[in-house]
Amino acid sequence: MATTAPRKTLRLGREAADIDRAASILRDGGLVAFPTETVYGLGADATNDSAVAGIFEAKNRPAFNPLIVHVRELEAAEALAVFSDPARALAEAFWPGALTLVLPMREGAGVSELVTAGGRSLAIRMPDHPVAAALLAAADRPLAAPSANPSGRISPTTAAHVLGGLEGRIDAVVDGGPCPVGLESTIVGFETGPVLLREGGIPASALEPCLGQKLVKGADEEQLSAPGQLASHYAPAASLRLDATEPDDDEFMIGFGKTPGDITLSENGDLVEAAARLFSCLHLADESGKPIAVAPVPETGLGRAINDRLRRAAAPRGT
Ligand code: TXA
Ligand code: MG
Repeated sequence: MATTAPRKTLRLGREAADIDRAASILRDGGLVAFPTETVYGLGADATNDSAVAGIFEAKNRPAFNPLIVHVRELEAAEALAVFSDPARALAEAFWPGALTLVLPMREGAGVSELVTAGGRSLAIRMPDHPVAAALLAAADRPLAAPSANPSGRISPTTAAHVLGGLEGRIDAVVDGGPCPVGLESTIVGFETGPVLLREGGIPASALEPCLGQKLVKGADEEQLSAPGQLASHYAPAASLRLDATEPDDDEFMIGFGKTPGDITLSENGDLVEAAARLFSCLHLADESGKPIAVAPVPETGLGRAINDRLRRAAAPRGT
């Protein structure tokens, strides 16, 4: 099914018959976008090379960028990767949830090499969303799933966002409504000690007590290990100006807290609400066709991940 020919993208709901249909498309090597608590993922059978290749093709994703594998249970994750004690402690405390662990892949895991981009470490997570859980159970195999957007564009938090970017390029989208967290998972690597590879839906400060140590941030440059960190990864089409207290003539303003805008991330300055609305706001702003200005967001808790995404969205293009 992973061909270049345009295909009809089925819209499916969350009813059992639709989940079964989606699972059978996945087992046949097709591409199905589905909701998770963070963002919509573009799923494929992680053990099927051509299905996984289809993801890169549909997204136009740089081939060196590895994918997260989604599983239904800790047991399934342990079959694919080797958990150290601190890694297992995090999984037990935060799964299902917005946390991805990068771990040494098990010999004979059976995962397509394209998933790890040829490397020996595997990114795994167990999503906390009833539709994702039902789909993983019905498909009965690990699903590779990056965010369901064309590479370099804003991550989708609704089925409409998915269709806006990938209609005609994927087999189906399962509509499970808007994603409650709205930011991708936090990624922690365990190649040496625990390293924060990406800020995300769970603040690093929430993970540290469980690890009994501070999480050091992985050095971006040195890492092809977290290549999602490519400079302008989350770019909208228009230019983006950060820390704006008011819009210039002609700008579309995204407000936050006391700073008003054409729309706002959160009128009350609530960072959880702002995270959940971030990509929707960027999509809306992008649709205005105007240059975009964004109000300052504090560098605390989820604000750090929000600012990380905003800085990437604002980075000079072509990098
Ligand atoms: O919340 C999420 O994590 C969403 C949902 C769909 O689960 N997925 C997601 O996937 O954000 P994606 O592909 O857009 O971002 C995955 C990030 C990338 O930065 C990628 O480079 C990194 O994970 N990654 C994947 N495998 C890796 C590995 N083996 N080692 C290091 N980083 C890895
Ligand atoms: Mg992504």
